Amino acid sequence: MKLVIIGGTGLIGSKLVARLREHGHEALPASPDTGVNTLTGAGLAEALQGASVVVDVSNSPSFEAKAVMDFFTTSTRSLLEHAVAAGVRHYVALSVVGAERIPDSPYLQAKNAQEMLIQEGAIPYSIVRATQFFEFVKRIADEATDGTTVRLPPVLFQPMAADDVAKAVGRVAVGAPLNGIVDVAGPQQFRFDEFIRQALRARNDPREVVADPHARYFGAELGERALVPGDGARLGEITFQEWQQGQPMETAGRAAH
Ligand SMILES: NC(=O)c1ccc[n+]([C@@H]2O[C@H](COP(=O)([O-])OP(=O)(O)OC[C@H]3O[C@@H](n4cnc5c(N)ncnc54)[C@H](OP(=O)(O)O)[C@@H]3O)[C@@H](O)[C@H]2O)c1
Repeated sequence: MKLVIIGGTGLIGSKLVARLREHGHEALPASPDTGVNTLTGAGLAEALQGASVVVDVSNSPSFEAKAVMDFFTTSTRSLLEHAVAAGVRHYVALSVVGAERIPDSPYLQAKNAQEMLIQEGAIPYSIVRATQFFEFVKRIADEATDGTTVRLPPVLFQPMAADDVAKAVGRVAVGAPLNGIVDVAGPQQFRFDEFIRQALRARNDPREVVADPHARYFGAELGERALVPGDGARLGEITFQEWQQGQPMETAGRAAH
């Protein structure tokens, strides 16, 4: 079975390509790095030739409102069109848990638009919604930093390891299309501010984390359960502590500033 991994050179994509290959599948990474661009359509027809499954784990280089909306709508339209022409039988995309519950977030508005295009498209599909990756902690903290203070709402938070995300997406990609959405999340729940406080401390990052119910997360205020999955989510196995132990010192121990 040939699977084309759009964004196959990224964090999740490269892990997914490796996993699928380990399981004997033909997995082709496709991204600007490999000569495939979903915004311009360059290289797409060639990459999709003979493919049964497309997995979109690409991400927008910019999270600015217009740029991110343009990225996910233009790339998804182009990908769907090329996938139909190539006879693809299963379209899989990675989205974010709570995408529909946080309407003020420009990034999640773009992910919602991406999901809607897929759901309205002609190809049987599966959408995997993941919670925040452990690997995304520093970016979250940087985005919420004002001077030396990180302000975050003390809402529930259930992050997961990128390895568990890749595993979940891989399982879905080689299965029958769900024609629906599945949530995946980490094995433990935390308070958002407390988790980031612990994670920064472990990195020797001196920033102070302050709980602020009105602090915005990528532009949006969050409800208590906005970031956690509903019942029936598939849970990953890797705890934050286990993940941290596997990090090279230059990442885990480096100060952010
Ligand atoms: N971060 C989180 O906590 C989180 C949580 C839930 C879901 N997600 C979702 O997970 C997905 C993957 O995230 P990630 O962190 O693995 O992304 P990433 O490491 O930033 O990788 C992005 C990938 O997209 C590719 N790409 C960029 N522009 C492209 C284009 N025009 N055409 C084709 N490919 C393009 C990049 O290719 P090059 O390397 O060639 O530039 C790269 O392979 C995203 O859709 C995101 O919404 C993220």
